[in-house]
Amino acid sequence: MFAVGADGSPTGAGPVPADLAAELAALLSSADDPGQPGAVQVLPRPTRQPGKVLLAGVGPGDEAGWRAAGAAVIRTVRPDEPLQIQLLAGVPADALRGLAEGLWLGGYRFRDAPKGPRTTEITIAAGESQAYGQSLETARVTAAATWLARDLANTPASVKNPAWFAEQVVAEAATRPGLTVTVREPEQLAAEGFGGILAVGGGSATPPRLLELSWDPGPASRHVVLVGKGITFDTGGLSIKTRDGMKLMKKDMSGAAAVVAATLGAADLRLPVRVTALAPLAENAVSGSAYRPGDVITQYDGSTTESTNSDAEGRLVLADALAYAVAELRPDVVLDLATLTGANSVALGKRTAALYSHDDALARSLAAAGEAAGERMWRLPLPDDYLDYLHSDIADRHSSPTRGAGSVVAALFLSEFLGDQLDRWAHLDMSAPSWAEQDDADLSQGATGWGTRTLLRWLPTA
Ligand code: BES
Ligand code: MN
Ligand code: ZN
Repeated sequence: MFAVGADGSPTGAGPVPADLAAELAALLSSADDPGQPGAVQVLPRPTRQPGKVLLAGVGPGDEAGWRAAGAAVIRTVRPDEPLQIQLLAGVPADALRGLAEGLWLGGYRFRDAPKGPRTTEITIAAGESQAYGQSLETARVTAAATWLARDLANTPASVKNPAWFAEQVVAEAATRPGLTVTVREPEQLAAEGFGGILAVGGGSATPPRLLELSWDPGPASRHVVLVGKGITFDTGGLSIKTRDGMKLMKKDMSGAAAVVAATLGAADLRLPVRVTALAPLAENAVSGSAYRPGDVITQYDGSTTESTNSDAEGRLVLADALAYAVAELRPDVVLDLATLTGANSVALGKRTAALYSHDDALARSLAAAGEAAGERMWRLPLPDDYLDYLHSDIADRHSSPTRGAGSVVAALFLSEFLGDQLDRWAHLDMSAPSWAEQDDADLSQGATGWGTRTLLRWLPTA
């Protein structure tokens, strides 16, 4: 790939002139190595326009290599510098999707950041190809959905309470046909028996919600339910977190952000699959009305949970949403995405989600979609015998056993609520990859929007 930074050009971005294209082709044919993905060489042209040429490596030239190249190039140009990209003949359409995703995702900045938005104007010069148009449109929708998920998770919790989150989704949905949104408030949650959501949200000055967003492309398609953990801030509740443990907990709604963003993206792409996103939204706060260690909670399915640690709140709200999905929505597949346990990063490090499913084909298809999207996951087991870890003397189960395997046991807890849907369910514990400590290829420092891209790859195959 050639990336041409038209630095200071009075005409701004436009098609690459033929003589420059020829110069670039000569330069490239004399280079003896295609370049590592993400490596960028800057060649200054002090007396000519454009004022510099960037050569970006794409490694083996697969989609991931092009994505890395796009992200590296956008980080090399100034935020307002126009960029012209010359694609040589024969670049496949999926490479262009990777390139465009890399450019858009690597260029993301949180909209309220003091640095202000990027205004780089990007022109891609390439031969006529209809497949290119499709690739660019898919990449645009994917990047926009990921930006939305990042914006939601980066928004401070002083702004982002459950009602605010729901309002954002209502506003987004109103701009697209084929979407319906229902928001349940506490009275209705109580009337219908969402005891987990009410217990967790009960300590906050900003009461909980259950958000239901549906994309319906028309009859005769499969129905996928996506459940996302939506804790707008997790103090740990009365079992309060440490100061270090709490400082990033505005991101504890990243699962909800991803499922909502992917559902909006599915509508933008008019994917031929019915999708319902469910986001139980609550703030896990500390107050006189907070739920207490030792409380017994009646979940949506009528079963009871003994909560001995109010910091194990995510599973309580997800349990209600999963049980509701199974009882009322009768989907073909249920996935849930959640920043569920610190143990995710203990087991798998910073960039890998834990994947759980009893369905081998579903697990494989999700991992493949993640791989293609650049979001890694690794499957961990759901051993039946560990279900006794959940034993409680006073309720149907315990929420926070202390015998280790934190991420596995949390997944087993959720599995209790799937009923006859158990074999068509997968859970992604995405605590670790939901946040990037610093800029890293297509990730910008802060919320990563993890899961949005995987879901948009996976949904067409669901
Ligand atoms: N939201 C946290 C998990 C988390 C930790 C996400 C770090 C992202 C980064 C979750 O609600 C939690 O507190 N989990 C507890 C569970 C325990 C009390 C059984 C944990 O992981 O310590
Ligand atoms: Mn917690
Ligand atoms: Zn949490």
